[in-house]
Amino acid sequence: MQILFFPFLLLSAVFTQQVQSVVKPGSFLTPTTNSSWPSPSGLYAFGFYKQGSGYAVGIFLAGISQKTVVWTADRDKPPVPADFKLNFTRDGKLVLQSAQGVDQTRLASFPGGASSASMLDTGNFVLLNSTNQTVWQSFDYPTDTFLPTQNLSHGQVLYSSLSDTNKSTGLFRLLMQEDGWLSLYPAGTPYAPLEYGYWGAGLSGQKKNDVVLQLEDDGHLYLLNGAHAIIANMTSAGNPIKGVVYRLTIDPDGMLRLYSYDTNQNGNWTVTWSAPDNKCYPKGLCGFNGYCALNDLEVICKCLPEFESVNVEDRSSGCQRNFTAESCESDRYTMEPVLNTVWENDNYSIIISTTQDNCGEACLQDCNCEAALFKDGVCTKQRLPLRFGRRDQSDTTVTLIKVGTSTTIVDRNLPKETKKELRLDILIVSVSLLAFALVVLVISGIAVYRNRVWSYKVIANHGNTVLGEDVAPKSFTYAQLEKVTGGFKEELGRGAFGTVYKGAICVGF
Ligand SMILES: *[C@@H]1O[C@H](CO)[C@@H](O)[C@H](O)[C@H]1NC(C)=O
Ligand SMILES: *[C@@H]1O[C@H](CO)[C@@H](O)[C@H](O)[C@H]1NC(C)=O
Ligand SMILES: *[C@@H]1O[C@H](CO)[C@@H](O)[C@H](O)[C@H]1NC(C)=O
Ligand SMILES: *[C@@H]1O[C@H](CO)[C@@H](O)[C@H](O)[C@H]1NC(C)=O
Ligand SMILES: *[C@@H]1O[C@H](CO)[C@@H](O)[C@H](O)[C@H]1NC(C)=O
Ligand SMILES: *[C@@H]1O[C@H](CO)[C@@H](O)[C@H](O)[C@H]1NC(C)=O
Ligand SMILES: *[C@@H]1O[C@H](CO)[C@@H](O)[C@H](O)[C@H]1NC(C)=O
Ligand SMILES: *[C@@H]1O[C@H](CO)[C@@H](O)[C@H](O)[C@H]1NC(C)=O
Ligand SMILES: *[C@@H]1O[C@H](CO)[C@@H](O)[C@H](O)[C@H]1NC(C)=O
Ligand SMILES: *[C@@H]1O[C@H](CO)[C@@H](O)[C@H](O)[C@H]1NC(C)=O
Repeated sequence: MQILFFPFLLLSAVFTQQVQSVVKPGSFLTPTTNSSWPSPSGLYAFGFYKQGSGYAVGIFLAGISQKTVVWTADRDKPPVPADFKLNFTRDGKLVLQSAQGVDQTRLASFPGGASSASMLDTGNFVLLNSTNQTVWQSFDYPTDTFLPTQNLSHGQVLYSSLSDTNKSTGLFRLLMQEDGWLSLYPAGTPYAPLEYGYWGAGLSGQKKNDVVLQLEDDGHLYLLNGAHAIIANMTSAGNPIKGVVYRLTIDPDGMLRLYSYDTNQNGNWTVTWSAPDNKCYPKGLCGFNGYCALNDLEVICKCLPEFESVNVEDRSSGCQRNFTAESCESDRYTMEPVLNTVWENDNYSIIISTTQDNCGEACLQDCNCEAALFKDGVCTKQRLPLRFGRRDQSDTTVTLIKVGTSTTIVDRNLPKETKKELRLDILIVSVSLLAFALVVLVISGIAVYRNRVWSYKVIANHGNTVLGEDVAPKSFTYAQLEKVTGGFKEELGRGAFGTVYKGAICVGF
């Protein structure tokens, strides 16, 4: 990483000093030489940092050994190569330029130009006009991290990053709601706290748009209303300790964590506080058809029976069936139970006062039913994909999954020899059959004849009426299911903020 390194001695001396390191128009940065503009103490720096095979522009803690990125410009744009420049142009615009100057991106958007720029010791990068007033500040455009003296007010959001090394927008968000509640949600869900939220803090009955999240230099994290009353404390107040820095980050795993770092000890970030209580609460962590379980307090993602990971490298990609379902005759399937798991209950049919056996039977008899949730005599029929799954030993829900009996299951990975037997002539026959299906409605007699030829060919070739994936249409692929169900529902417009939190201060749900 090409980051300027400043001695630790400097840090403790300058923490409270309001020195400004002023950057004038006409200055520029490159990824490899003069790559950043430091804050007066050297604790923070604004500039290029290494990201993947290229460079990104952002703000990072430069004065400590654990260089930590707290803000990224255009986080979803690909990294740039080493010959790019960050140009603070003479007319006061902050522009990312390619070597030839063809590609240009304005990093900070505000009318007119700035007269100076400054990386402050708070971690805020500001652009000032000729009367030294702030025309743009990075604190107004948070990414995944919130720092002391920053404000998070109504409608403002932090989005988690994809991973510790990839700062693109990830799967979770922290929202300061109009109703004064601070909440965690999966990205891309409507603002409906009871259905989608997985943690919240606040106090009901606040004025609309009145509450702000604050973090003090001593690590005190709280919600403040317009009348300057603290309505909820997430952490307690203490005396600020010189050289200890704090940051609040929504991590890639959906957990909100307050970290501290003692610059005097040159150690590690320590988690001071975190929410929610359980690492499996972040909804969607294990993707579709997967559920979260804890093993020694660490998250593991599991698949439903006869499902397998879509991508073992990425647990949030979820799980898909490891067989292709054929038709929906009930004798081809059985229901397999999974105990103590909870899911989003997106049922389309409810049967009350029933038994687990009858619940399974009802699903088997219903072509649209692919799973059922049974609890306390209530059976709810579900379609795939199931989502927001999590093991909960205290919950008696039985998840019943429709799985193929042995005669219907077709292995997707047929041995090579068997695959070869599905010769080209079968393919031709099947294609022509498909074309013929249209004519079937008109000339049913011919269709019957062709069908007989078809069955004969298949049986003659492998003595089996079931086709492998080479020729058979896959009836239940993951992608199709996702399309049919619309995947994650689109976000609703702002203004639909939930106001249905129950209870008083700091309720986790
Ligand atoms: C870095 O920038 C300063 C002025 O801002 C200049 O004096 C110095 O030569 C530059 N260093 C390199 C290696 O380009
Ligand atoms: C980050 O992840 C996104 C989405 O997978 C990908 O497009 C991008 O190239 C990644 N960036 C880096 C630096 O690896
Ligand atoms: C910065 O941008 C201006 C205007 O596009 C250009 O004239 C100038 O040469 C650039 N500076 C550098 C160092 O590339
Ligand atoms: C703006 O700030 C700089 C340095 O902080 C100072 O030199 C300058 O006089 C200030 N300008 C105005 C108009 O206050
Ligand atoms: C500087 O910015 C402030 C706040 O945006 C604005 O009120 C003021 O008029 C600006 N001053 C100049 C000289 O543009
Ligand atoms: C935070 O809000 C307070 C009160 O509205 C304001 O005085 C302060 O300038 C804000 N801080 C930042 C960094 O915008
Ligand atoms: C929050 O903490 C502050 C400082 O410790 C204390 O004065 C205040 O009473 C607390 N407020 C609530 C609502 O717990
Ligand atoms: C910091 O933490 C990492 C793992 O989290 C560990 O490998 C490393 O030894 C720690 N460093 C110090 C100085 O404690
Ligand atoms: C599907 O996976 C299950 C384990 O989850 C395994 O028992 C079963 O044999 C697999 N079926 C096929 C057809 O690969
Ligand atoms: C059925 O699903 C709806 C949402 O689609 C949910 O509100 C309701 O609670 C579910 N019913 C039961 C019995 O779980």
